[in-house]
Formats: sequence, C-alpha cells, structure tokens
Amino acid sequence: MYSKLSSVLVATIFVSNVLSSPITKDSITALSLPSSFSRHIRVRAEPNTGDEDLNPDEEPHPNKLEKVERAFNDAFELAGYATTVIDDPNRQNIFTKYFNEEDRANVRKVFATIWTQPSDPDAPAADGGSPFLGEIMVQQADSRNLCGDPRLIAYLDQNNAPNDVALVLCSRAFNKKGVTTIQGQDPQGPGAENHYLTCDSIGDNVSFRMNSLGMTLLHEYTHYNRMTQSIFNAPIIDQEDASGNPIGYGPVQVRTLDKALAKLNADSYAYFASEALWTVLCQKDYGDPVAGQDDNDPDCNNTSCSG
Ligand SMILES: *[C@@H]1O[C@H](CO)[C@@H](O)[C@H](O)[C@H]1NC(C)=O
Ligand SMILES: *[C@@H]1O[C@H](CO)[C@@H](O)[C@H](O)[C@H]1NC(C)=O
Ligand SMILES: *[C@@H]1O[C@H](CO)[C@@H](O)[C@H](O)[C@H]1NC(C)=O
Ligand SMILES: [Zn+2]
Repeated sequence: MYSKLSSVLVATIFVSNVLSSPITKDSITALSLPSSFSRHIRVRAEPNTGDEDLNPDEEPHPNKLEKVERAFNDAFELAGYATTVIDDPNRQNIFTKYFNEEDRANVRKVFATIWTQPSDPDAPAADGGSPFLGEIMVQQADSRNLCGDPRLIAYLDQNNAPNDVALVLCSRAFNKKGVTTIQGQDPQGPGAENHYLTCDSIGDNVSFRMNSLGMTLLHEYTHYNRMTQSIFNAPIIDQEDASGNPIGYGPVQVRTLDKALAKLNADSYAYFASEALWTVLCQKDYGDPVAGQDDNDPDCNNTSCSG
C-alpha cells in the first residue's frame, strides 16, 4: 500500500495517521498549508442551520444536524484535497479526466474560493470557508416542493440572494456517509460502518459510493453565483443537452461530458474532488466508472443523484 505513495506533498506520518483514523481539520492543514499562510486571518464562515428545522436533540445520534455539521467539514476537506491534487506534479492526470488543461487555474480558484479567504486565495480557513457560505441556510424543509423526484438529493434556492438562500437537503441525502469524525459515533466503535466511508467500502473504481453528504454540499456550493460566478463570468450549472436532458450528473456523465462544458458543471467539481480525496487518503488509483453500475445510486432511484 505504501509503495504506491507518489505525492511529494504527503508525509509518511500523515498517511499513517489518516489510514488508521478519519482525517481531521488539522490533517488537511498539514497537507495543504501553503508557505504564505497567515495565521491572523479570521473572517470565515460556514452555512447556517435553523434550530427548528434541524433539531439538535433529535434521537438517535448522530442525528441530522450532526450529519450536516460533519458534512460542512467534509466539504472543506474535499475542496482542500482538490486544490492539493491540482498542484501536485505527480497527480496531474486526475484533473484532465474531468477538465481541460487550460482551465486548471480557474478550476483551482473555484475550490480555493470555497475553503479560503476570497481576498487571499492561498489562505486556508481553519474554521470554515468563504464568507459567502455564511449567507446560506441548510434546511430539510422542501420549500420549492421538489424532493418528490426520487433522483433529487439536494438543491440550492438562490432566487432571493443574499438575504434568503436555502440549501435544501432531501431526506435521501441523510443516507449519505462521510469522512471526518461525526459527533455521536466513534469512528472505531460499533456501527461506524453506517456513518463512515472507508477505503474498503468505496471499491476500486470511481462511483456513487464516493458520494458523501459533504460532496453533495460541495456540488451545491459551486452553484452559488455570488461566490463563484465571477471566476468564469458565467454560472456553474448542471449541464443539459438541447432537449433539456441532464448530461452532467454522476460519475459516468462527468467523464463523457464535453470538457469545454465541464468547468461550468457542478458535479464535475464534486466528482473530481472526491476522486482526489480518496486517491490521496487510500493511496491508490481508481479505475474509470462503469456505466449502468457505478452510476446507479440506490439512494437516487438507481440512477445518478441530481441536485
Ligand atoms: C474498473 O475500471 C476498469 C477500467 O478503468 C475496468 O477495467 C474494470 O472492469 C472496472 N471494475 C469493475 C469492478 O467494474
Ligand atoms: C425511478 O425508477 C423506476 C424504475 O426504474 C422508473 O420506472 C421511474 O421512471 C424512475 N423515476 C424517475 C423519476 O426517474
Ligand atoms: C435498485 O436496485 C436494487 C438492486 O438491483 C433493488 O433491490 C432496488 O429495489 C432498486 N431500487 C429502486 C428504487 O428501484
Ligand atoms: Zn446541481
């Protein structure tokens, strides 16, 4: 397993730590810290949750609020690993499975915008990310009544930005597991397999099995126009063909999508970041997703989740 270690950025001690326990915010900082990092920057945010909508006392634990709070961390981890892999000379090939080489700097900027200070794209956020994320309310209330579609996992309602931006998680989103420690569930304790993705459980190929709740949040974050639209002077959407059929959802479509469109396709970011994170954490290269199998997510009507 260790013989596959190729990244110059990954210290052996870091790898042995993450392989024996879930990653922590400290670990990502150790992995990704640019030399120019300033410890004085404090303005940062993560989305909000409403006490009435996500009840902190809900049983059993870990409850939905705890899943969401852990997913906030996971989304930052994903964005952080994405930037790390974009910069890693030994892992340049992962990027070009998803995006055009010429878009490397701007795609990096999308991820960096999410997990750093907009004023300083190299300054990591220790407790959260872009201040724009603080404008988002994560909720389960299905305000636009869309979650009846069994394929839909989440959506972002930004029509009234910046004062009223809802990131709605459909109930099926809470089936998704995660990466970093979750309150109320010991990562080594009984039942951990219900709450943690592991190198063993996600298999050998890129697939929906990599889809964590944090990955779903990351997908929705890229849609937030106030945060990301200025990077390409265009919104990051879910790409469709001329008839309105989706062509950018799930691990298979993001690989077959015209790469000229990928930079403006939310799931391309979500799956690239997931492949990047798992490649580094599990120290292995993943095979290509197989249509009709690696995109048939049982949580989303046996198809790719939309969002
Ligand atoms: C994984 O992907 C490789 C190609 O990258 C393919 O040959 C293999 O059959 C896939 N594995 C499974 C279990 O489908
Ligand atoms: C859900 O899956 C069933 C069985 O494959 C299919 O008949 C139905 O059309 C799907 N629903 C949607 C909204 O795609
Ligand atoms: C999805 O596929 C699995 C296995 O093929 C099946 O057991 C399950 O009923 C299917 N779910 C839906 C919603 O179609
Ligand atoms: Zn979307």
